[in-house]
Amino acid sequence: MTPDELRQAYLDFFADKKHAILPSDSLVPENDPTTLFTGSGMQPLLPYFLGQPHPKGTRVTDSQKCFRSQDIEEVGDNRHTTFFEMLGNWSFGDYFKQEQLKWIFEFFTDICGLDPQKLYVTVYEGNQELGIPRDEEAAKIWKKLFAQKGITDKRVFYYGNENWWSRVGEPANMSAGEPGGPDSEVFYDFGDELKDHENSLFADQSCHLNCDCGRYLEIGNNVFMTYAKTEKDYEELKNKNIDFGGGFERILAAMNDDPDVFKTKLFTPIISYLEKNSGQKYGQDGKITQAFRVIADHMKAAVMLAADGVYPSNKEQGYFSRRLIRRAIRYGQMIGIENEFVSGLVPVVAKMYQASYPKVTQQVKHIQQVFEIEEQKFKKALNKGLRVFEKETMDCLTSLTAFNFYESYGFPLEMSIEEAQRRDMQIEENIEEKFDKLKQSHADQSRQAATGKFKGGLGDQSEATVKYHTATHLLHAALRQVLGTCVKQKGSNINDKRLRFDFSHPRALTK
Ligand code: SER
Repeated sequence: MTPDELRQAYLDFFADKKHAILPSDSLVPENDPTTLFTGSGMQPLLPYFLGQPHPKGTRVTDSQKCFRSQDIEEVGDNRHTTFFEMLGNWSFGDYFKQEQLKWIFEFFTDICGLDPQKLYVTVYEGNQELGIPRDEEAAKIWKKLFAQKGITDKRVFYYGNENWWSRVGEPANMSAGEPGGPDSEVFYDFGDELKDHENSLFADQSCHLNCDCGRYLEIGNNVFMTYAKTEKDYEELKNKNIDFGGGFERILAAMNDDPDVFKTKLFTPIISYLEKNSGQKYGQDGKITQAFRVIADHMKAAVMLAADGVYPSNKEQGYFSRRLIRRAIRYGQMIGIENEFVSGLVPVVAKMYQASYPKVTQQVKHIQQVFEIEEQKFKKALNKGLRVFEKETMDCLTSLTAFNFYESYGFPLEMSIEEAQRRDMQIEENIEEKFDKLKQSHADQSRQAATGKFKGGLGDQSEATVKYHTATHLLHAALRQVLGTCVKQKGSNINDKRLRFDFSHPRALTK
């Protein structure tokens, strides 16, 4: 099946079972200020789990575009992507476990043609403290379904928090009103492909269904959305709901019987484009393969975000787009792409999604123009920044240096970290947190300064502060030139009369 055929087969399968087909929502949530992006299929449907009637009835199905920003740095292995589609079918107080597990097993085995011998499932082991029982019911249904295919060896495994789903993860993170519930996940076993773990299921405790080695890939999650958090504990929802989410890219990988999602048709056109432009081959070497994956993932995500109105900028959603594009450009350079390549990828992505998301195709020209400008602007700064990285022969990356790279050359933090790692430099502890603080305080001060200017005379105070702040950067740079590159900032305190800069250095200073 092609990706388009698989998506349609899933929607048709559930339409046959009286589900209304919904279009995908935008990647930018419309009525949910708590999050920047739509990160799962159920997110746009939250109110309906809590009891609000859905205009299309109690059974709906869709394929939802999702973006998980927290996965940016995970990308590079064979299965993590920031953008993905989640196939979803939903019951709002209508059918429940019995139908859901039966249907989804039928979909995976009969429609997708997955070998049931390669499927394993997990269910919730319960939580006494919360008063939520072990999910024997789901386990029993699964055993019966496997038995009908003649499979009677152990297929069902119990887990704790891994088998609890809410938008914020485990029960302890949920705040009042948040719905969640036990879930049951389906895994595909890539078995012999991954020799390291051959025969290791159950025999070798270090590898198990939820292990990160990649042998077992989660391809779908059946959530029994039945609880809501209250101030004190949990209450059962009025309705027993089903929230199924299937990883579209991962199901295709399972259908290929190859664990690399980047070898599915949802990525191969991008990979071919990169091969042509770089003269390198995907798969020829670990580092190159990783670079191909980062570029392919990031550029697809950036295009899909742009089609939903998110363009590169320094703020909120836009900053994710900028980080994706800049990181892709850097990786492009690493695999030897010399020319501009980013905007050329826009029509490649649009073509893959022409049938399902025609909005992308309609906006190709505009997205290309914006990406072209972004690439030209950043490439100049990137080369300057990399030269400084080389020249400074720093032996540690501090948050302040990273902030300077961000301000002067537009390096997102993760890019400075990667450059530092490539050069075996040390990295300051908690650099992310400290970098964010610097960014925040800088933004506050610029805002203060701007407000001050409009108010006339009152501006003096904050303007002075901004100057002193800049002066700490200069002082830090000067100290590093005179004393060496591992001078570490330990603090700074600024008011409108003076700056104070604390730093560590192994020896006393000369006069
Ligand atoms: N809500 C579940 C998930 O995101 C299933 O849709 O994994």
